[in-house]
Amino acid sequence: MIRTPLALIPYLIAALAVGAGLLWHAGDLLSATNPVASQGEALVGGPFRLIDQDGNERRAADFHGRFMLVYFGYSNCPDVCPTTLAVMADALDKLGPRAGRVVPIFVTVDPERDTPKVLKAYLKAFGPRFVGLTGAEKEVAAAGRAYRVYYKRAPLKDGGYAMDHSSHIYLMGPDGKFIADYDETLGPDGLADALRKQL
Ligand code: NI
Repeated sequence: MIRTPLALIPYLIAALAVGAGLLWHAGDLLSATNPVASQGEALVGGPFRLIDQDGNERRAADFHGRFMLVYFGYSNCPDVCPTTLAVMADALDKLGPRAGRVVPIFVTVDPERDTPKVLKAYLKAFGPRFVGLTGAEKEVAAAGRAYRVYYKRAPLKDGGYAMDHSSHIYLMGPDGKFIADYDETLGPDGLADALRKQL
């Protein structure tokens, strides 16, 4: 005969909960072995605290509710950056009124030279839509890490420097989460078509 089985129930529940907890952690460990396949892309993006071309502090949360098209580069870039910014600007023009839901954002990887004033003058060439962001080196580095952006100073023979950098146009959703990334090889029509499917 079993004595007072009811009194054991709380202990059984506790044991089951511990067991379930262990399984849960085992699941975490298993998924951690293959993070790229399960959620790698979703890890692009996150909070930032930077200064725009008018000198105002801007945080990622300020843009929630709208799509962000985010590109990291620098104003002294001889080729890829201006090409990419032109593609972004032209693609948005092609979207018509729907472009109002998208904020194109240029984040400098060269905050030493790209002051708000420099960014303001530079971005004028690409129409009125762009928000240019710069800030303290530390804050720019944090934003770059959040967006998985590679960049590195490359000294030039004349004593100046260029910035090596990765080149991705990130589309972030109104919730601030990563949706897709593109690059300038799509051209304005290709980028506009890709955006139309997401907006
Ligand atoms: Ni560039």
